[in-house]
Parts: sequence; structure tokens; C-alpha cells
Amino acid sequence: MAFILIGGSRSQLGLLEQARALGHEVCVVDGAETAPLLAEADVGIVQDFSDVEGVLNALRERGVEPEAVATMGSDQAVLPTAHFAERLGLPGLPVQTAEIVADKRLMRAAFEAAEVPAPRGREVGREDAAEALAEIGLPAVVKPVDGSGQRGVTKVRSAEEFPAALERALAASRTGAAVLERFLEGDELTVNGFLLEGEYFPMSVTQRLLHPPPPLGVCIAHRYPSGLSAERERKLFALAHAASRAVGIDTGPSYVQLRVDGDDNGVIEVGARLGGGKDAELAKLVTGFDAIRAETLRALGGLTPGDLGPGEPVAPVGQVRFVVAPPGRIVRLNAAPALELDGVHEAGFYWREGMVLPPMISGAERLGYLLLTAGSDTELDDLTDRALHALHVEIAVERVPA
Ligand SMILES: Nc1ncnc2c1ncn2[C@@H]1O[C@H](COP(=O)(O)OP(=O)(O)O)[C@@H](O)[C@H]1O
Ligand SMILES: [Mg+2]
Repeated sequence: MAFILIGGSRSQLGLLEQARALGHEVCVVDGAETAPLLAEADVGIVQDFSDVEGVLNALRERGVEPEAVATMGSDQAVLPTAHFAERLGLPGLPVQTAEIVADKRLMRAAFEAAEVPAPRGREVGREDAAEALAEIGLPAVVKPVDGSGQRGVTKVRSAEEFPAALERALAASRTGAAVLERFLEGDELTVNGFLLEGEYFPMSVTQRLLHPPPPLGVCIAHRYPSGLSAERERKLFALAHAASRAVGIDTGPSYVQLRVDGDDNGVIEVGARLGGGKDAELAKLVTGFDAIRAETLRALGGLTPGDLGPGEPVAPVGQVRFVVAPPGRIVRLNAAPALELDGVHEAGFYWREGMVLPPMISGAERLGYLLLTAGSDTELDDLTDRALHALHVEIAVERVPA
């Protein structure tokens, strides 16, 4: 019997380790031979996970008997994982819910039906671009209906900027479709929670600090605490619950991105997964809520209310800080010196030596991450500076194709 992990990127490591800690063999499925967790797994299957039949065949051929199936950080893996759960008769997200969270048109319709506050928006194509822009107004955001990681997302400030931005969104969409939304001002927050049979268990509210534009919306840090009052956080958790219910999440993790502007809130999107940016790892350190363990138990069909809730935090303040660097050929990367600092829990890179780091156009071009905690905000800022400094990053700046 094996715990099937869909996707072999580093962001899934917590789930792999947790399944193993609970005594399960782990089988990792990923289409890229270089996916780092393929080698970590008890069984590694190199197969594009969007090919559901192909993966089911490969599992049979390799004699793997699935007892659970899950994914953690990747948006792309949520729908395939729901299909696998359905086909294998294992606990999982309803396929319909997975379809809704994978398509920003369906997500918007679900929010509208449930009266969840969200920016005004609609589908847009080349034919009705002018009409859509007139309807939505400026400033606006155009993005692929099925994108993730901020690929193809652009803020539109003027009608002149729109055609090129629309082309980027259409090009980034697998189905060649885009949505246009009113741009929401305000601070961006992530509300993390976990549902069990409809009940919502609040985890954490974090500030989502953004890289200066362009690009739009690339996260540079998830920071805890949010700085909002407890009362305000309670309202955001209630909103995150409503948004999760609207898309049909009954049991499982919920990752809600929203913007708050004064007393106004607008939901940007709901993820039916643990965050891909070490969100669950951070929440565990600063709240004691162990969502990775909860997600592992959920996949195995053994999650109880007692597994969901805060515990003993390691520290009151913490952040995931993403590491960015200028584009160029990566000569040398070493996170070990940063890891030696007190309060640095994780440090790693998404890219490897020898690769060429492209210019930053989405979250995928970030170089790496640090997971840090401290006793206060000032201590955290100081530690972050020292940790970024301690990372050994050597990049030969050269002309690279954009
Ligand atoms: N309507 C909007 N108003 C303001 N910012 C937005 C809006 N839509 C998207 N963004 C910004 O772009 C980022 C990515 O958009 P999102 O819808 O979450 O797409 P993705 O699925 O690629 O993460 C958001 O985190 C946010 O910073
Ligand atoms: Mg998003």
C-alpha cells in the first residue's frame, strides 16, 4: 500500500515526510524526470499527472496499491488529484469543486451565487476586448482563466496597455481564455484554514507582501501576524469560510487570497490546497496548527476535529521570505550558512547551479525561500537581513532571452 503524492516539486516535501512519519510508503508522480522528490520517494513514477489514465496504468504496472492520494503546493495538480481520488475510490475533493477552483470563470460564478464579495469581472477575448474594458473600467487586471503562480497576470492602467496585456493572458492560458477584473486596491492577505465536514477551522492570516511591479502580484513574503485586530481576523475567517463553501470545499485545506481596503474586503481567489509558499510550515511554527499532518490524515480518511486547531507555537512572529536575484547563469548556490542562524528553520532554492534564471515575470522566477521566526518584528527584520546576507548566491549576469 502506498501514499500517492501528485507532483514532485520541493514544495511537497512536508507531505512526503508526514506520510512517511505516519508509517506509509510514498509514491511520487511527476512528468519531469528532474523533479526533486522522485528520488526521495519509495517509488518514483515519471509520468505527466494530467494524463489520468496514463498514471493509473503506470501505478498498476509498478504494482503500487494506492491507499491515499494528495497534493500540496501546486495548483496544476489539484484537478488531477481529485480525478485520481474519484477513480480510486479514495477520499478527495469532489471533481466539480476541483474544476471550479481551476477556472476563474467558474470561481467567479460560484462567488456571485453565494454573494461572496469579489472584484467585478468577466471573460474577455480579442473580439469583445473594448466592450469588456468599458464594462469593467480602469484600473483593471487581466489574467488567464486557468493560470497559476501569477503567469500572464497584468494590471491594466490605460486602454493602450490592454491589447498587449490581453495577449499575455491568452498566451499563458492552456485553453486560450482570459478574464478581466476590476483592480482592487488595498493590502493583500492570505487566510489559511481547514474544513472538516463543512466546519471551518481557522489557521492563520498572513500579510502577502508583493514584489514591486512589474510583474503584478508576485509574493515576496508571507508575514505573521497580520497586524489586524482579532475582531477583524474573525471576520476574514468567516469570509474565507463562505468563499470555501461557495466553491464546494467540504473537507480539506482552504487557501484564500484577498485584498482589504479600509473596511472593504474582496476575495481574489480560493485554493483548495495548502499554500505552495511554505504557508502551512509557517503557520505551524507561529500557531502550532499542523495542517500538513491534517492533510495527510484527511487523505488517509482518518481526520478528526481533534487534529485541527492551534497548538504550541515556536515563536510569536515569523515569515516566509522569498529570495530574488537578477537574471543570469547560476554559478553557485549554498543555503547552509543561513541555516546555521538561530530562527532560520528552512532555506532552499527552487533553481539549481548551471541553470539560467530568467527575468522575473511570475512567481516561478523566484530563486528560493527562507522560513524564519523571531520574538518580535524588529528581531525578525534583523534576522531576515542576516539570513539573506548569509545565503551564498553567485549569478553570472548575462544577456538572457526574456
Ligand atoms: N482584481 C485584482 N485586483 C488587484 N490585484 C489583483 C487582482 N487580481 C489579481 N491580482 C494580483 O495578482 C495576483 C495573482 O492573481 P491570482 O488571481 O491570484 O492568479 P494566480 O492564480 O496566478 O495566483 C494576486 O495575488 C494579486 O496580487
Ligand atoms: Mg493566486
